[in-house]
Amino acid sequence: MCGIIGVLGDREVAPILVEALKRLEYRGYDSTGIATVQNGILDRRRAVGKLVNLSDLLMHDPLPGKSGIGHTRWATHGGPSEANAHPHRTGRVAVVHNGIIENFRELRMRLNGATWESETDTETVVQLCANYLDQGLPPREAAAETLKHLKGAFALAFLFQGEDDLIVAARTGSPLVVGYGQGEMYVGSDAITLAPLTNMLTYLEEGDYAFVTRAGAEIYDHAGRRANRDMQRIEAQKARIDKGGYRHFMAKEIFEQPTVLARCLGHYTRGGRVVIHEGEVDFTQTDRLTLVACGTAYYACLVAKYWFEKLAVLPVDVDIASEFRYRAPPISKRSTALFVSQSGETADTLAALRHVRDKAATVLSVVNVSESTIARESDLALPIKAGIEVGVASTKAFVCQLGVLANLAILAARQRGQIGAAQEAELIRILQGLPALTSQALALDDTIRRHTGTLARAQTVLFMGRGAMFPLAREGALKLKEISYINAEGHASGELKHGPIALVDKTVPVVVLAPRDGLFDKTVSNMQEVMAREGRVWLLTDRDGAKQASDGVWKVLTMPVIEPLFAPILYAIPAQLIAYYTAVHKGTDVDRPRNLAKSVTVE
Ligand code: F6R
Repeated sequence: MCGIIGVLGDREVAPILVEALKRLEYRGYDSTGIATVQNGILDRRRAVGKLVNLSDLLMHDPLPGKSGIGHTRWATHGGPSEANAHPHRTGRVAVVHNGIIENFRELRMRLNGATWESETDTETVVQLCANYLDQGLPPREAAAETLKHLKGAFALAFLFQGEDDLIVAARTGSPLVVGYGQGEMYVGSDAITLAPLTNMLTYLEEGDYAFVTRAGAEIYDHAGRRANRDMQRIEAQKARIDKGGYRHFMAKEIFEQPTVLARCLGHYTRGGRVVIHEGEVDFTQTDRLTLVACGTAYYACLVAKYWFEKLAVLPVDVDIASEFRYRAPPISKRSTALFVSQSGETADTLAALRHVRDKAATVLSVVNVSESTIARESDLALPIKAGIEVGVASTKAFVCQLGVLANLAILAARQRGQIGAAQEAELIRILQGLPALTSQALALDDTIRRHTGTLARAQTVLFMGRGAMFPLAREGALKLKEISYINAEGHASGELKHGPIALVDKTVPVVVLAPRDGLFDKTVSNMQEVMAREGRVWLLTDRDGAKQASDGVWKVLTMPVIEPLFAPILYAIPAQLIAYYTAVHKGTDVDRPRNLAKSVTVE
């Protein structure tokens, strides 16, 4: 999604802005731009496509100035073109924007004398602000007045002609931070954007706006009252972003999983017992658990449903956030709502959280970014401890989300009297063994790399699994399609013959996720049905499963033996490697797949 940077520097800012835009690339974008003020003169440069195009432009046509704003745009209103790229500006003000101005049509009608350069919603902000400047309001007041008329979700940074020492920053719905440097001040979409510049940050709250000058930031709340917001020191490691010698962030993040999973699991257990703020999570008072998320995080919720139901005998609903928020799901005061989000900023998940805020007894979240809006608006936020995830395709966050959810299910089981201390200790022992098993699963790396050439040539790939492996089949398919652009579907093994098996012929690889569990024989029967139709089966199973069911299988990947309940955590690893190497074979942009954004901050 769009990214914002603003710098009031004591040196030329164009190179600083471009470096910051590099750090925003991971969020996904299709055009870039910067604007500066030099001796009061406002100017800008914009380019479609990769950031290198903007850098090239700046080589030939530099943009001087010590004050500036920059933007990576992920197109929403209007396609990727130079005219639609940010910053938008009139002669007097330039604006960069992340989010959507929902009432832009109405504003365009009101501003009927204006000349429009773009198809964007953002340009209405610029025109409105210019209108107030024309009426004689000074820049700060003009920006503040503009904000009053905007509806939707947005983070904004304004830069003004004639003002070398002012950026107005505002947030409603989309995150924005103010950074403090040595004689310099910054505005950015997140801590990563500002990482090498400063680690002293203030997170603006909902409805806040700030007048940022080199002397500091004056922050006001949504009602225009002066607000005190904490300045936080962000751990350096939280904002470090490098590939660590790997070719892609995704590969680095896949291989980090044993370490981050161990850290995540260690955070929630002590002495054979789950330790989660007991006072704040009480499953004895809960008669329904509602899990809500998007994409990969949604699949983590679907896996967790099996755990909560089996271990804690707790009824569970799982919903896609964008559907949940517009339905009228009955939420009782005895229900717990849990939101799962890597970024903690996904617009739909956040809106769903706000939708149940006063309805459910408890609102929990499972997040990677502890400072995120979803974390801050929950009664209790449980961090997944995965570290920054840069690859657009979520990998380590998924596995750590499952780690937290497994612990939560064990806690619920204990609190609801479904398991005793010995059983709890045993479940935790199994979970604690997972980081070592994920290391063993990563040893399949080379085998998978060598065999994914055939997958890369496929038009369609199917994934199938039963029980908690069904959501993992869907996650495996999502991973493959998003980075390799191959049509991939994940199905419940038992459902295949109710429709999807019509797709199967000798050109269709079918990945079967089948740890040797109570449903293994049934999955193998479904696999036979696929092979009878010449489908090319990739069987992921353990040693015993491989002995029993390898005949006629095109490729067997032998996995370590694992207690079936938690197998989705382990089997996520080969599913990710299959997607990764297929994409590498196809030569796609693995870390920045087309059309996708890392943090989806618009509806
Ligand atoms: C897929 C992927 C997305 C995200 C989804 C939710 O690999 O990363 O499907 O899982 O956009 O994002 P978060 O977890 O940040 O709410």
